[in-house]
Amino acid sequence: MTKPPMTKLKYGFIGAGRMATALAGGLVESEGASGQQIAASDPDKAIREAFAQAIPGALVTDDNAQVARNCSVVLLAVKPQVMETALASLALASSDGAGSDGSRPLVVSIAAGIPLRWLESHLPPGTRVIRVMPNTPCLVGQGASGYSLGSAATVADGQSVEQMLQAVGMTFKVPEPLLDGVTGLSGSGPAFVYSVIEALAEGGIEAGLPKEIADSLAAQTVAGAAKMVLEMGDSPAKLRDAVTSPGGTTLAGLQAMEQKGLGSALRAAVRAATLRARELGAKDEG
Ligand SMILES: NC(=O)c1ccc[n+]([C@@H]2O[C@H](COP(=O)([O-])OP(=O)(O)OC[C@H]3O[C@@H](n4cnc5c(N)ncnc54)[C@H](OP(=O)(O)O)[C@@H]3O)[C@@H](O)[C@H]2O)c1
Repeated sequence: MTKPPMTKLKYGFIGAGRMATALAGGLVESEGASGQQIAASDPDKAIREAFAQAIPGALVTDDNAQVARNCSVVLLAVKPQVMETALASLALASSDGAGSDGSRPLVVSIAAGIPLRWLESHLPPGTRVIRVMPNTPCLVGQGASGYSLGSAATVADGQSVEQMLQAVGMTFKVPEPLLDGVTGLSGSGPAFVYSVIEALAEGGIEAGLPKEIADSLAAQTVAGAAKMVLEMGDSPAKLRDAVTSPGGTTLAGLQAMEQKGLGSALRAAVRAATLRARELGAKDEG
């Protein structure tokens, strides 16, 4: 265990797993933060060692309260089911919980489905809290996330979290009820897109392509088309029209796809995931 520094570190992760490592890596690579500005706590020695290796210079410990005391932004990166235990272990309500310089940290939760009100009720009154809904492509710097401010969080708090999330992709500030829609679209969306890639590849295999080639062509086609939408600023409809000539191959494919109802299947998937997020959030409120 490394000794705590005298001055506050910038970012402290409670839970040093996959998302914490991805976010910390993004901060180091894109935001120019140094490992010395980052701390992480985790009960699992192997996870701590992996984090220390990924983020050289970071303070790594098994003591959550040490991270909370020594960081100005505390990121809760544990699974939702252990959140209550993790919050209790931060000791933010105790006399030394405010940290060595007297200030209290901004608390940022990336746990799926845990409402701001619940988080605030498990932290000392007046704690600045921000809730983020990230997605797995954060792990490769291509995340899409949404975030909402808690009742005591300031505009400046929002800006610093936004800067952090932009280091691993794009992000949007939304009112908290819309985080369910973010969960349904970009949170669960990677799984929907994996199904699309899988099905495209299967189509290629049926057309006689070897599996490795079909898999790569399918994934790269989805990545390339997404990049066209993001970078050219044209709507998907306009880009689709541009590659669909009368009597051509694409039109034949689109007609077959519409007949099978891909559009309505994907809309139903986002709707079902959003509803499920709403149900799970309501359970945590109760
Ligand atoms: N992965 C995603 O794509 C994704 C997307 C959106 C949101 N999220 C959210 O991100 C959060 C983290 O997900 P993840 O995939 O990074 O999980 P993860 O890899 O399992 O990392 C969580 C880590 O927290 C540790 N931990 C457990 N209890 C703890 C405690 N009391 N104090 C400190 N650390 C503790 C776990 O150790 P043990 O393994 O020993 O329990 C584990 O190493 C989750 O809340 C998830 O809902 C993830």
